[in-house]
Amino acid sequence: MPIYLKQRWNAYTDLDPVTYAVWAIYENAKVFYLEGRYGDLFSFRKLQDAGFHLWYSTINHFVNQFESTTSIATLVPQCEGVVLELGPGMGNQIVRYDKNKVTRVIGVESNPHFRPDIEAQAEKAGLGGVYELVTCGAEESDVLERNGIGASSMDTVLSIQVLCSVRDEKAMAREIHRVLKPGGKFIFWEHHVSSDWITRLYQNVTNPIWRRLIGGCCRNKDMYAALAAAGQWENFKSIEGDADPGKPWVTLPRMWGVLVKAKE
Ligand SMILES: C[S@@+](CC[C@H](N)C(=O)[O-])C[C@H]1O[C@@H](n2cnc3c(N)ncnc32)[C@H](O)[C@@H]1O
Repeated sequence: MPIYLKQRWNAYTDLDPVTYAVWAIYENAKVFYLEGRYGDLFSFRKLQDAGFHLWYSTINHFVNQFESTTSIATLVPQCEGVVLELGPGMGNQIVRYDKNKVTRVIGVESNPHFRPDIEAQAEKAGLGGVYELVTCGAEESDVLERNGIGASSMDTVLSIQVLCSVRDEKAMAREIHRVLKPGGKFIFWEHHVSSDWITRLYQNVTNPIWRRLIGGCCRNKDMYAALAAAGQWENFKSIEGDADPGKPWVTLPRMWGVLVKAKE
């Protein structure tokens, strides 16, 4: 069996994302230093949040263009009723909601730098009075509870490339299942650990650096296992993906779907 040395080499040595991330962190460190914000300069969290926002806003045009060619474009309009959107980031998905289907959308974003982008996108989408933003980690269930996100309260939970950055994806998946109403939908598009052992080794070895530079994103999480263990779904087998045995070098294989929480 060919091991595709050239393709692997090209995939594993693509340093563009990392180079941009180093630049973004450096730019923010410079600003913190010049403004005398030494507390922020020596806080890795502050540098990481500011760096990730600059990184994302720099590459966002390309990310958004790419995403509109994927199933994201048809997944997001399936959101309906009361929606919990995890990690809206630049707010790229907000303009994809079907305004006639959503009654309330609560975006939960842990990075405060994204607030102006999200608010601007909500206005642009005509969802100004419908979209509410809560700045906290999606795992902070006490804060979510205070914002009306409790057990069996959501018609839809949307997660587009967010579970990779959540510290404990298994606990997060259980929480998503918990807050959904029976019959509610979990709509997602995420990347996951590779089934190819060489790519998995690459993901594991590079992850400590990647995670620190790219806003906590991990490339080696077993999302299938996390979702399977979250609770009962009516249609777990409907999950789709682009992992291709003919392209074992892909470092970010994607999976997506609309999982329906079982009605007891
Ligand atoms: C790769 S971006 C995706 C942004 C957006 N979902 C999209 O599709 O364009 C991941 C986002 O999740 C946010 N995030 C990461 N961990 C989070 C957490 N624990 N709780 C809430 N948001 C989180 C990040 O700050 C970032 O905005």
